[in-house]
Amino acid sequence: MVLSAADKANVKAVWEKAGTNVGKYGGEALDRTFLSFPTTKTYFPHMDLTPGSSDIMAHGKKVADALTLAVGHMDDLPGALSKLSDLHAYKLRVDPVNFKLLSHCLLVTLASHLPGDFTPAAHASLDKFLSAVSTVLTSKYR
Ligand code: HEM
Repeated sequence: MVLSAADKANVKAVWEKAGTNVGKYGGEALDRTFLSFPTTKTYFPHMDLTPGSSDIMAHGKKVADALTLAVGHMDDLPGALSKLSDLHAYKLRVDPVNFKLLSHCLLVTLASHLPGDFTPAAHASLDKFLSAVSTVLTSKYR
């Protein structure tokens, strides 16, 4: 997965526009994921998964912060996300299919909050970016 210079610029522009709301958007993306794709909930038996719960919002912020880190290291995603990759593959054993579901919900969340910025080109670049992140986080699965 190669992110072009234009992809990187598009991703950065949307992320900057999201600004301090990224944590909240992460929580909303999780809400959407758990509601639309309930099997994803099986990975979180220890959390209160009521939509908007403090558990979901806190976890959403962690996911969003990791994505912000990734946005800052688009030239070296494997290096920047190495520990998270170990965690998701070796410890949590998250099946890769779930990353597509969360990525879809992240895109929908961004589109609904930033409709003017979510151009077709930005959509395509964000999709590539989330796909690249997911590839790293699932690279050690099995
Ligand atoms: C864009 C993709 C993802 C990112 C950036 C991401 C990021 C993170 C981060 C930052 C943490 C916290 C790590 C820590 O506390 O040290 C985490 C934990 C976790 N993630 Fe992910 N994650 C992603 C996808 C997924 C998916 C698709 C699932 C399953 C549906 C999942 C399941 C979990 C679980 C179960 C935990 C542990 C929660 C806890 O007990 O606190 N993640 N993830």
